[in-house]
Amino acid sequence: SAQDAALGEKVFLKCRACHQIGEGAKNAVGPVLNGVVGRKAGTYPDYSYSDANKNSGITWDEATLKEYLKNPRAKVPGTKMIFPGLTKDDDIDNVIAYLKQFGAD
Ligand code: HEM
Repeated sequence: SAQDAALGEKVFLKCRACHQIGEGAKNAVGPVLNGVVGRKAGTYPDYSYSDANKNSGITWDEATLKEYLKNPRAKVPGTKMIFPGLTKDDDIDNVIAYLKQFGAD
């Protein structure tokens, strides 16, 4: 079922290759995702974003994250997030529920 953070934690295994989240998280291949829901794109401190991400004008809310996670390069042409996207809507909803558990540092 949609918006299940525990299922979302399993989906997040696909993200963990590049992203850290939670206490002590550090920028890696991708930026720290603490507090990402509600954050302006390209603003996590000390991470070297692409211009495409930085200048996207996006604020990451549930709607924009849904579009991005379905097809990152369609939502942000030129992004350096090389990830094909999640195909299942439930996986997207659940991973967003998981992300929401982590507030800004
Ligand atoms: C950026 C989420 C998988 C590499 C981002 C951003 C979000 C995100 C929300 C934008 C952050 C911001 O603007 O501060 C996710 C989620 C994933 C996932 C939920 C799994 C479903 C991956 C994977 C990789 C990756 C597997 C590496 C292969 C990156 C990179 C950026 C980024 C390099 C920076 C993009 C840029 O500056 O253009 N990710 N990501 N992500 N992600 Fe991911």
